[in-house]
Amino acid sequence: MLKPIAAHGRTATVPAVDLRRIHHVELWVGNARQAAYFYRKCFGFDQVAYLGPETGNHDRASYCLRQGEIFLVLTSPLSHLSPLNVWLSCHGDGVRDLAFEVGDATDAFAGAVARGAIPVAGPHDVEAADGAVRRAAVRTYGDTIHSFIERGDYEGFLPGYALDTVRGGNVGVHCIDHVVGNVDHDRMQYWCDFYAQVFDFSQFVSYDDKDICTDYTALRSKVMADRERNIKLPINEPAPGKLKSQIQEYLDFNLTAGVQHIALRTDDIIETISHLRANGAEFLDVPDSYYEAIWKRVGRIDQDPDRIRDLRILVDRDDNGYLLQLFTRPLQDRPTLFLEVIQRCGSDSFGKGNFQALFEAIEREQIRRGNV
Ligand code: FE2
Repeated sequence: MLKPIAAHGRTATVPAVDLRRIHHVELWVGNARQAAYFYRKCFGFDQVAYLGPETGNHDRASYCLRQGEIFLVLTSPLSHLSPLNVWLSCHGDGVRDLAFEVGDATDAFAGAVARGAIPVAGPHDVEAADGAVRRAAVRTYGDTIHSFIERGDYEGFLPGYALDTVRGGNVGVHCIDHVVGNVDHDRMQYWCDFYAQVFDFSQFVSYDDKDICTDYTALRSKVMADRERNIKLPINEPAPGKLKSQIQEYLDFNLTAGVQHIALRTDDIIETISHLRANGAEFLDVPDSYYEAIWKRVGRIDQDPDRIRDLRILVDRDDNGYLLQLFTRPLQDRPTLFLEVIQRCGSDSFGKGNFQALFEAIEREQIRRGNV
């Protein structure tokens, strides 16, 4: 159970936790230099900032990558003494920090902790010659954290980083649409309550195991979102089936809860997926049979249906419109983190009609890995 706010005796003066946007997503990886090359060459990110020994930071190297409003940070430890090694040993490459920009990091931290979040780092200034930002951080599911970043009038990426421009070949993704967490069996509601209580999120939509199951495995999912619905965080848990759920496979390899996928939005998915396929990005297989039934289900769309089929893009429709999406295979050898590319054409849902096809595709790969 989350601690009720009253237990902290601060009900009258609990400050607001005012999240403005996702500031960046930080991944801890085994070899940040090579990972940065992969995200540049394959996914089209520009390398825009760097922190490491050359900038006076001797315990880690961090590469900041940007495409549109998406900022990814890839960080590796430089020494066997670094605490990052323990994290990497447990989880492999993955998301450490889903960092939010806030108006006031001190208030955001105090408000989040008063509402039951576990502190990671109290409010502190990070300073360099070109200015300062104020940061703090709290824990969320697994070994994942949320940093709060108060930028003030700071104009760079973050203090301590040097400008480092290496172009990546834009593929057209421009913002983070949603970030999905996988949590342990029967913990989905706990973490939904956490986001409701700590960040004042509300439930956007939910899917139960009848929506997302094959003959063998199943999952449940709820989508939590902030008031403006700018930050959308779906949370999955495994549901019982004849065989191991794909969510359980993730949990087994990640050892605990964590970020399952980051969805990147594009305004032209045909262009984006064409670029990505040419760059060698690997996607989940979508069977021919998917396109035999799809047009009856979703009706007319503005894009060329033959191109959609040839690029193996998934389509779904809801009351407000339709969406186009596709999922990469895991980005590392452990079957954990992957990316989604999504184009929204009126729809603000998450491709419920595709869950079945997606789930079956993931399950085929899971069987190939022998993890069932
Ligand atoms: Fe997604």
